[in-house]
Amino acid sequence: MMRILMVCLGNICRSPLAHGILESKLNTEDFYIDSAGTAAYHIGNQPDQRSIAVAKSYNIDISAQSARQFKATDFDSFDIIYAMDQSNYNNIIALAKTKNDIHKVKLFLEENTSITNKNVPDPYYGDTSDFLSLFQLIDNTCNSITSKLTDL
Ligand code: 4NP
Repeated sequence: MMRILMVCLGNICRSPLAHGILESKLNTEDFYIDSAGTAAYHIGNQPDQRSIAVAKSYNIDISAQSARQFKATDFDSFDIIYAMDQSNYNNIIALAKTKNDIHKVKLFLEENTSITNKNVPDPYYGDTSDFLSLFQLIDNTCNSITSKLTDL
Protein backbone atom coordinates (compact mmCIF):
# COMPACT_ATOMS: atom_id res chain seq x y z
CA MET A 1 0.00 0.00 0.00
CA MET A 2 1.43 3.37 -1.04
CA ARG A 3 0.21 6.31 1.05
CA ILE A 4 0.06 9.84 -0.40
CA LEU A 5 -0.86 13.05 1.43
CA MET A 6 -1.91 16.29 -0.29
CA VAL A 7 -1.28 19.46 1.75
CA CYS A 8 -2.41 23.08 1.32
CA LEU A 9 -3.10 25.89 3.80
CA GLY A 10 -6.74 25.47 4.84
CA ASN A 11 -7.45 21.93 3.55
CA ILE A 12 -10.72 23.22 2.09
CA CYS A 13 -9.90 24.33 -1.51
CA ARG A 14 -6.78 22.87 -3.17
CA SER A 15 -5.78 19.72 -1.27
CA PRO A 16 -9.32 18.26 -1.06
CA LEU A 17 -9.47 18.49 -4.87
CA ALA A 18 -6.04 16.89 -5.26
CA HIS A 19 -7.09 14.17 -2.79
CA GLY A 20 -10.38 13.41 -4.58
CA ILE A 21 -8.97 13.63 -8.10
CA LEU A 22 -5.94 11.40 -7.45
CA GLU A 23 -8.10 8.90 -5.55
CA SER A 24 -10.43 8.70 -8.57
CA LYS A 25 -7.52 7.65 -10.81
CA LEU A 26 -5.88 5.01 -8.62
CA ASN A 27 -6.82 1.58 -7.32
CA THR A 28 -7.83 2.04 -3.67
CA GLU A 29 -6.48 -1.42 -2.81
CA ASP A 30 -2.95 -0.28 -3.62
CA PHE A 31 -3.11 3.45 -2.85
CA TYR A 32 -4.36 5.38 0.18
CA ILE A 33 -4.82 9.13 -0.42
CA ASP A 34 -5.52 11.78 2.22
CA SER A 35 -5.22 15.56 2.60
CA ALA A 36 -4.44 18.08 5.33
CA GLY A 37 -3.84 21.80 5.88
CA THR A 38 -0.87 23.48 7.51
CA ALA A 39 -3.23 25.96 9.21
CA ALA A 40 -5.87 25.20 11.83
CA TYR A 41 -8.54 27.67 10.61
CA HIS A 42 -10.91 25.15 9.06
CA ILE A 43 -10.47 21.98 11.13
CA GLY A 44 -13.59 19.79 10.84
CA ASN A 45 -15.06 21.79 7.96
CA GLN A 46 -16.38 20.36 4.72
CA PRO A 47 -14.44 21.42 1.58
CA ASP A 48 -15.26 24.83 0.11
CA GLN A 49 -18.56 24.72 -1.83
CA ARG A 50 -16.74 25.87 -4.98
CA SER A 51 -14.33 22.92 -4.80
CA ILE A 52 -17.23 20.53 -4.13
CA ALA A 53 -19.13 21.95 -7.15
CA VAL A 54 -16.28 21.80 -9.66
CA ALA A 55 -15.40 18.24 -8.60
CA LYS A 56 -19.06 17.21 -8.87
CA SER A 57 -19.16 18.58 -12.42
CA TYR A 58 -16.48 15.97 -13.24
CA ASN A 59 -18.32 13.23 -11.30
CA ILE A 60 -15.99 13.32 -8.31
CA ASP A 61 -17.62 13.57 -4.88
CA ILE A 62 -15.42 15.29 -2.28
CA SER A 63 -18.33 16.39 -0.05
CA ALA A 64 -17.61 13.82 2.69
CA GLN A 65 -14.08 15.10 3.34
CA SER A 66 -13.37 16.91 6.60
CA ALA A 67 -10.47 19.34 7.07
CA ARG A 68 -7.65 18.42 9.42
CA GLN A 69 -4.31 19.96 10.26
CA PHE A 70 -0.98 18.48 9.12
CA LYS A 71 0.87 16.91 12.05
CA ALA A 72 4.42 15.60 12.57
CA THR A 73 3.20 11.98 12.77
CA ASP A 74 2.06 12.31 9.13
CA PHE A 75 5.73 11.83 8.21
CA ASP A 76 5.46 8.29 9.61
CA SER A 77 2.05 7.57 8.06
CA PHE A 78 2.75 8.65 4.46
CA ASP A 79 5.26 7.76 1.73
CA ILE A 80 4.85 10.95 -0.33
CA ILE A 81 3.69 14.35 0.94
CA TYR A 82 2.76 16.84 -1.79
CA ALA A 83 2.75 20.54 -0.86
CA MET A 84 0.54 22.80 -2.99
CA ASP A 85 2.97 25.73 -2.79
CA GLN A 86 6.34 26.80 -1.41
CA SER A 87 4.86 28.37 1.70
CA ASN A 88 3.12 25.14 2.66
CA TYR A 89 6.28 23.20 1.77
CA ASN A 90 8.21 25.36 4.23
CA ASN A 91 5.57 24.86 6.95
CA ILE A 92 5.70 21.07 6.49
CA ILE A 93 9.51 20.92 6.47
CA ALA A 94 9.59 22.93 9.70
CA LEU A 95 7.98 19.93 11.44
CA ALA A 96 10.40 17.33 10.01
CA LYS A 97 12.60 15.43 12.46
CA THR A 98 14.77 13.39 10.08
CA LYS A 99 16.29 13.59 6.60
CA ASN A 100 13.93 10.80 5.61
CA ASP A 101 10.97 13.01 6.64
CA ILE A 102 12.29 15.82 4.42
CA HIS A 103 12.79 13.47 1.46
CA LYS A 104 9.08 12.56 1.52
CA VAL A 105 7.99 16.15 0.82
CA LYS A 106 7.68 17.47 -2.74
CA LEU A 107 6.01 20.38 -4.45
CA PHE A 108 2.93 18.94 -6.16
CA LEU A 109 3.69 20.82 -9.39
CA GLU A 110 7.16 19.25 -9.62
CA GLU A 111 5.17 16.39 -11.17
CA ASN A 112 3.92 18.69 -13.96
CA THR A 113 6.71 19.41 -16.43
CA SER A 114 4.59 21.81 -18.51
CA ILE A 115 4.13 24.29 -15.65
CA THR A 116 6.94 26.70 -14.76
CA ASN A 117 5.39 28.33 -11.67
CA LYS A 118 5.51 25.56 -9.07
CA ASN A 119 2.90 27.14 -6.77
CA VAL A 120 -0.74 26.06 -7.12
CA PRO A 121 -2.53 29.45 -6.90
CA ASP A 122 -4.56 30.00 -3.73
CA PRO A 123 -8.16 30.21 -5.07
CA TYR A 124 -9.79 31.28 -1.78
CA TYR A 125 -10.53 34.85 -2.95
CA GLY A 126 -11.18 33.73 -6.53
CA ASP A 127 -14.34 32.98 -8.49
CA THR A 128 -15.88 30.00 -10.26
CA SER A 129 -13.51 30.31 -13.23
CA ASP A 130 -10.51 30.16 -10.87
CA PHE A 131 -11.85 26.89 -9.45
CA LEU A 132 -12.32 25.49 -12.96
CA SER A 133 -8.71 26.26 -13.91
CA LEU A 134 -7.63 24.92 -10.51
CA PHE A 135 -9.42 21.66 -11.26
CA GLN A 136 -7.73 21.39 -14.65
CA LEU A 137 -4.26 22.11 -13.26
CA ILE A 138 -4.68 19.53 -10.49
CA ASP A 139 -6.24 16.98 -12.85
CA ASN A 140 -3.38 17.27 -15.39
CA THR A 141 -0.83 16.90 -12.61
CA CYS A 142 -2.64 13.88 -11.13
CA ASN A 143 -2.50 12.26 -14.58
CA SER A 144 1.31 12.58 -14.51
CA ILE A 145 1.46 11.21 -10.97
CA THR A 146 -0.78 8.29 -11.93
CA SER A 147 1.37 7.44 -14.98
CA LYS A 148 4.48 7.49 -12.84
CA LEU A 149 3.03 5.40 -10.02
CA THR A 150 1.41 2.79 -12.23
CA ASP A 151 4.16 2.64 -14.92
CA LEU A 152 1.71 3.32 -17.73
P1 4NP B 1 -6.65 26.15 0.59
O1 4NP B 1 -7.29 27.61 0.44
O2 4NP B 1 -5.33 26.33 1.30
O3 4NP B 1 -6.48 25.72 -0.82
O4 4NP B 1 -7.64 25.31 1.38
C1 4NP B 1 -7.46 28.47 1.52
C2 4NP B 1 -8.50 28.28 2.39
C3 4NP B 1 -8.69 29.14 3.45
C4 4NP B 1 -7.82 30.21 3.62
C5 4NP B 1 -6.77 30.40 2.73
C6 4NP B 1 -6.59 29.53 1.69
N1 4NP B 1 -8.03 31.10 4.68
O5 4NP B 1 -7.28 32.11 4.78
O6 4NP B 1 -8.94 30.91 5.51
